[in-house]
Amino acid sequence: MELAVDVQRLCKNYGSLRAVDNVSFRVEKGTSFGLLGLNGAGKTTTFKMMVSLIRPDSGTALVAGYDVVKEPMKVRTHIGYVAENPAFYPRMTTLETLHYICKLLNVPVNEAPQRIDSVLEMVGLMDKKNAYVGGYSRGMRHRLGLAQALLSEPKVLFLDEPTLGLDPLGAKNMRELIVRLRQENELTVLMSSHVLPEVESICDVVGIFDHGHLVAMDTIANLRSILSDSMNLELLLAKPNDKLVQALRLIPGVNQVEANGLRMDINTVKNIELRPLIMQEALNNNAQVIAFGLKESSLEDILLRLVQNELA
Ligand SMILES: Nc1ncnc2c1ncn2[C@@H]1O[C@H](COP(=O)(O)OP(=O)(O)O)[C@@H](O)[C@H]1O
Ligand SMILES: [Mg+2]
Repeated sequence: MELAVDVQRLCKNYGSLRAVDNVSFRVEKGTSFGLLGLNGAGKTTTFKMMVSLIRPDSGTALVAGYDVVKEPMKVRTHIGYVAENPAFYPRMTTLETLHYICKLLNVPVNEAPQRIDSVLEMVGLMDKKNAYVGGYSRGMRHRLGLAQALLSEPKVLFLDEPTLGLDPLGAKNMRELIVRLRQENELTVLMSSHVLPEVESICDVVGIFDHGHLVAMDTIANLRSILSDSMNLELLLAKPNDKLVQALRLIPGVNQVEANGLRMDINTVKNIELRPLIMQEALNNNAQVIAFGLKESSLEDILLRLVQNELA
């Protein structure tokens, strides 16, 4: 197993506030890892330590094989990082901005134009070469953020809240862009978000942050099944059917049946498949079923349960 990131017992204090508390995790090469947590959970602080912008108080972080404290320049030239709210000089054009960043990265002068063209192509800003960044929309600024992060031809990409402040269409475009870039460039992606479906659509593994702690780390499917000791089913009917409600409540393994107009929420034990039986009862009671299926718990449910578990 080759590691792109290896974080061990990382801590960071701001005065008396422990923003990141003894956080350890490993990210395998090629994985897409999501740091999920509410505002203030410590995601940005963790990112800044991993990209060598701030020093950890204790603990270690190896990124792309380099120690963030001992070899910060190596780290910076081997990764790409898009900060939470990417900011640029408004009176520079797109090209000027990217040439400037090439200089900071020590990209050889004769190589810079090619690299710049290639990243502009990747993020779809080719036709904005001579536009002033000050006139950019938020969505374009986020894409320029990605372009500058790709200039180093990184193998590990850090994206801190990549869709923050974008409208729904802009956010969707950004998510698709991240997925595509990841595939085309065989990137390891670490991204943070408090938008749950977003992490779900991009990441293979999630780490859940709460008050500076990493409270869980697993695939989303595993987190769901570990945390739910029951199953929630949803049945939609063309007409309300009280007899069916009564009949379902008598099925062993059905914990609860709640009728909400045309929708029935059915909670059952997890380890027995009761769906065929429930369907049969619906037929027996002449219910007109429009839809029937499993209601998956959202990542938000998972987060709330984890946080509650921790508090308890
Ligand atoms: N430069 C700073 N000085 C003091 N406190 C900070 C600073 N940066 C972050 N914090 C605090 O550290 C905690 C974690 O913040 P942050 O890492 O930004 O969380 P997140 O990115 O998950 O929203 C918060 O309580 C925040 O107020
Ligand atoms: Mg943040």
